Amino acid sequence: MSHRVAISSTGLYTPPHTITNAELVASFNAWADLENERNAIDIAAGAAQPVPHSSVEFIEKASGIQRRYVMDKEGVLDPKRMRPRFAPRADHELSMMAEIGVKACEDALQRVGKNAADVDAVICAAANMQRAYPAMGVEIQTALGVPGYAFDMNVACSSATFALEMAYNAVRTGAARAVLVVNPEITSAHLCWTDRDCHFIFGDVATAILVERLDQAPAGAFEILGTRLLSTFSNNIRNNAGFLSRAEDRDPEDRDQLFRQEGRKVFKEVCPMAAEHIETHLASLGYRAPDVRRFWLHQANLSMNLFIARKLLGRDATENEAPVILNEFANTASAGSIIAFHRHHTDIAPGDIGVICSFGAGYSIGSAVVRRL
Ligand SMILES: CC(C)(COP(=O)(O)OP(=O)(O)OC[C@H]1O[C@@H](n2cnc3c(N)ncnc32)[C@H](O)[C@@H]1OP(=O)(O)O)[C@@H](O)C(=O)NCCC(=O)NCCS
Repeated sequence: MSHRVAISSTGLYTPPHTITNAELVASFNAWADLENERNAIDIAAGAAQPVPHSSVEFIEKASGIQRRYVMDKEGVLDPKRMRPRFAPRADHELSMMAEIGVKACEDALQRVGKNAADVDAVICAAANMQRAYPAMGVEIQTALGVPGYAFDMNVACSSATFALEMAYNAVRTGAARAVLVVNPEITSAHLCWTDRDCHFIFGDVATAILVERLDQAPAGAFEILGTRLLSTFSNNIRNNAGFLSRAEDRDPEDRDQLFRQEGRKVFKEVCPMAAEHIETHLASLGYRAPDVRRFWLHQANLSMNLFIARKLLGRDATENEAPVILNEFANTASAGSIIAFHRHHTDIAPGDIGVICSFGAGYSIGSAVVRRL
């Protein structure tokens, strides 16, 4: 027997600190000046190039990002450090990823008056896990008091939508009555804050999605009409940090042990793929792009979203049709499209159709077509 499935709630955890572009650029430029001073002799001899300054105008124009939330601000902005400063936690303490994941899950549950006993599984899906095992998902599951099972999965920026399909299938088949998908994204720890090309890109956050059997979901929930996943290998977005790094005698600060990308190639390749993916997904369910009341798109870059919406609709989308949250949050990896949904869904009328879609490293693209009950 196949059950109908709905997104009955979402939750959001917002970190305590904000970094504006002005603050970010001031710290980057102070770091660049220190670097250039350190390399002054080589630079004067023409043996090294000075690090150019970053600029607020470039960041806003190239990305649409105005600020971002972070778990630690002082370490990131310290020009002598340029990375967050986290105190190590003992094994008996809740891990940082689990802590913010639990908060997002509690928010999602509380919004619909549900509790942990109503849930059978937790999928922790994020672009990076803070350790190999035990699974972050199991720690979150146990901290919440969810019976049943949990696991981790990583499909970079598409982790949330790929997990949404896993949750949809688990509920559809009856394996679970309800599943919490949780996306704790501490991107500040894998961003290279000294790389001018990308130091402005990411922000921290955690989101949660409660996926339930439709017959148990509250009024106003969103039925999942279908999900669709696509992946194809690309080297244009990579993070090589992993358990082999130690055996390769790597330094955690080596540039390839952090996020890096060929931004222009990503833009050129991913945008048409994402637009075609959404179109094909909608067509498989008997819809066309103009039938869609709202697109909750991945939030990496404003121009990417404008391009995709234009390709789908044949005209510019309004903010009402494709809401933007990256100006406030920056790119939050897998959480972006879920924040957009979380912040912008209460005005959708019963019967209206929406699309949640993420795209990112892999490459990976995931979408869910939903209809408001
Ligand atoms: C990352 C991205 C915003 C960069 O924008 P871009 O317009 O491609 O910028 P480029 O890297 O080509 O740089 C353009 C110019 O700005 C300069 N520049 C780069 N970073 C700068 C900064 N922080 N401040 C000032 N100038 C900067 C470059 O040096 C370059 O100068 P040049 O033309 O004299 O060589 C853009 O490529 C993008 O959005 N890509 C999408 C990919 C993405 O965001 N993926 C995330 C996962 S899906």
